[in-house]
Amino acid sequence: MTEPTLNIRGFQIFKGSLDGQGQADLLAELREVVAQAPLFSPMTPYGRPMSVQMTSAGKYGWYSDRKGYRYEQKHPEGQSWPPIPRGALALWQGLVSTERMPDCCLINYYSDKARMGLHQDRDEADFSWPVLSVSLGDEGLFRIGNTTRGGKTESLWLQSGDVVVMGGEARLRYHGLDRIRHGSSTLLTKGGRINLTMRVVD
Ligand code: SIN
Ligand code: FE2
Repeated sequence: MTEPTLNIRGFQIFKGSLDGQGQADLLAELREVVAQAPLFSPMTPYGRPMSVQMTSAGKYGWYSDRKGYRYEQKHPEGQSWPPIPRGALALWQGLVSTERMPDCCLINYYSDKARMGLHQDRDEADFSWPVLSVSLGDEGLFRIGNTTRGGKTESLWLQSGDVVVMGGEARLRYHGLDRIRHGSSTLLTKGGRINLTMRVVD
């Protein structure tokens, strides 16, 4: 197993897991996903649109509206979610498991002003499976907190090609994305940041 570059509160950070070619190949696969399952801006349960745009691949997609956070087997337009890109599954197999594949690959797109508030990932049935995160495009300031709200946090910039394994003591820690540095990467022609998170849901 490869060793993480950094370990912050159990978040294992693998800097530059994907090289330039790997990033471009994964991006091409993601463009196919988005062509079949377009990005949308979900509503929070509190009735405000999220600032990120999202879609999913896999058996389940993550979804939110007035009824709450949950997984859905269909895109809001009615079609099934496309298969998870091979380049994403390869990262999962290298860092998490070759026995069980993720059920969901959530794709978040951050344009210039988008952010994600501190939250826990807790809509899955079994927290013994880690969440695997992949960053593409502009750098994003990732914030790591505690297993309850509040307390001291630590932040780090995630760059294109970085992969984070959120398992063990990190699995239920609060985390979020404060802001992106628009134009810090040339991977996406119009700028912005893509974050993939793969999860075992059932
Ligand atoms: C998330 O926690 O769902 C996204 C984190 C990120 O964008 O890096
Ligand atoms: Fe999350």
